Amino acid sequence: MEITECKLIDLPKIQDPRGNLSFIEGGKHIPFAVERTYWIYDVPGGQTRGGHAYTNLHECIIALSGSFDVVINNGKETKTISLNRSYYGLYVPPMIWRSLENFSTNSLCLILSSAPYSEDLYIRKYDDFLKQTSGI
Ligand code: TYD
Repeated sequence: MEITECKLIDLPKIQDPRGNLSFIEGGKHIPFAVERTYWIYDVPGGQTRGGHAYTNLHECIIALSGSFDVVINNGKETKTISLNRSYYGLYVPPMIWRSLENFSTNSLCLILSSAPYSEDLYIRKYDDFLKQTSGI
């Protein structure tokens, strides 16, 4: 998987003096239908979440509040994307190793996912990921 397949998506933003509003429609603003949503919160300083890849799962990662870094790796290249606006979504396709780091206090990470939770979709060992990306 090319790392350039991970794309920052500029989500709709309705600006209003009463407060802004953003939204997502599955299959329209993000390139997959949403089957599951989960969120990560109350992350203690210095902790890292993620640290795995998915075989066949697409996701969109949003910093609804605060900020954090998404470190993505395709077995060859690594890139760090800082998310700190609730109207940006980071699209991550299958077969990208990703971890979430550097969470600010009170940050809230929303993840939209193309599949229900299943441990079968995870690659949890980086060595296994490297083997699969190099085709060995
Ligand atoms: P995991 O995806 O490993 O978290 P992270 O990658 O952020 O460190 O999930 C942690 C635990 O939560 C794991 O035991 C599975 C469970 N879980 C669910 O039951 N449903 C879900 O939708 C998710 C994402 C995790």
